[in-house]
Amino acid sequence: MALKAVVFDAYGTLYDIQSVAEITEDAFPGYGEIITQIWRIKQLEYTWLCSLMRRYRDFAAVTRDSLAYTLRVLGLGYEGEAFERLMEKYLHLELYPDAITALTALKPKKLAILSNGSPDMLDALVGNSGLAPLLDAVVSVDAKKIFKPSPEAYALIGEVLGTAPHEVLFVSSNPWDVAGAKAVGLNVAWIERVTPEAMALACVESDLVPPLTMFKAIRTQMDELGFQPDHRVHSLSDLPEIAARL
Ligand code: LAC
Repeated sequence: MALKAVVFDAYGTLYDIQSVAEITEDAFPGYGEIITQIWRIKQLEYTWLCSLMRRYRDFAAVTRDSLAYTLRVLGLGYEGEAFERLMEKYLHLELYPDAITALTALKPKKLAILSNGSPDMLDALVGNSGLAPLLDAVVSVDAKKIFKPSPEAYALIGEVLGTAPHEVLFVSSNPWDVAGAKAVGLNVAWIERVTPEAMALACVESDLVPPLTMFKAIRTQMDELGFQPDHRVHSLSDLPEIAARL
């Protein structure tokens, strides 16, 4: 196969969504971890619910609503300032440390992001993190008004880059995103950042499973949706070697 493009999921794949934890803890001492996990769980859930209900609201709105839900159910009163500080962090998430080096090594190929993020959020994030010069396209599902893992969302890759599914390596750490991309015939590399062994160990190590372990158990392990990735890697830096073989 002649690989033409490598397309990345954004949140959780290139950008560490757990990097909001410091600011959530700072704004609500003692609640940082639980806020971080519920916020992300609900954010994704709302994307799927909005899509099923056919009531698209963009990712910025979904991210606000899921944060409002999180603070409300935890009984945390919040002022505008703390809320906006947390939201602002979504425009300054940390890149995984190997992201720039990996993308630079992949550069002879077309490189793009396909994300559920809204165009404003993605443009700010890509600009703030210095990734913009390495990317040929930043594609938001907003153009289709439906979220991944809908097939319409993945169709944007071909429409924007002019590629056939087999010419693309789609990269995600999100198991539901891997299943969605495989379902439309893309080649998929899954970044398995938490191995099943590490997962099992985290569960036996404590009587009380902390929110982060719970999050890892439901959002980092391969789903039972009938699809498996073509490639299983542990970090972004494993990708250039795979791309060179395709
Ligand atoms: C993305 C998410 C939701 O599409 O991970 O970037």
